[in-house]
Amino acid sequence: MALLEWSEDLSVGFDEIDNDHKKLIDLLNDVDAAVAAGHAPHVVGGFLEELISYTIWHFRHEEDLMQAHGDPDILMHKAQHAELTEAVEDLHLKYLDGDADVAQTLLPFLKDWLTSHILETDMKTGAFLASRAA
Ligand SMILES: [Fe+2]
Repeated sequence: MALLEWSEDLSVGFDEIDNDHKKLIDLLNDVDAAVAAGHAPHVVGGFLEELISYTIWHFRHEEDLMQAHGDPDILMHKAQHAELTEAVEDLHLKYLDGDADVAQTLLPFLKDWLTSHILETDMKTGAFLASRAA
């Protein structure tokens, strides 16, 4: 079973962002599947790196959209992205050092963070962008 599944409940009402989130969830599930399949740390690490670099790309994408449309919440939203990027990079380094369990710490952390960030913060941004695009 997938760690997290995209559903309409997670839709922010703006396709460009929803599509990114679907891809993000796919990559998160790929890491989970690699762990479940018992793959070697360097293989899991490869999936993890893909997830992290896509996350960073996606944050930048959202921030560019907010900037282009003059979203008044951009600073608060960017601060949340920066905080997560730092936390994930820190956990990634610990994983590379062999003292973080990706399945026990990083994946549940990312799953919970992404879900609450999408539901609370991205939802507002999606509504704002949809109103601007209308
Ligand atoms: Fe966001």
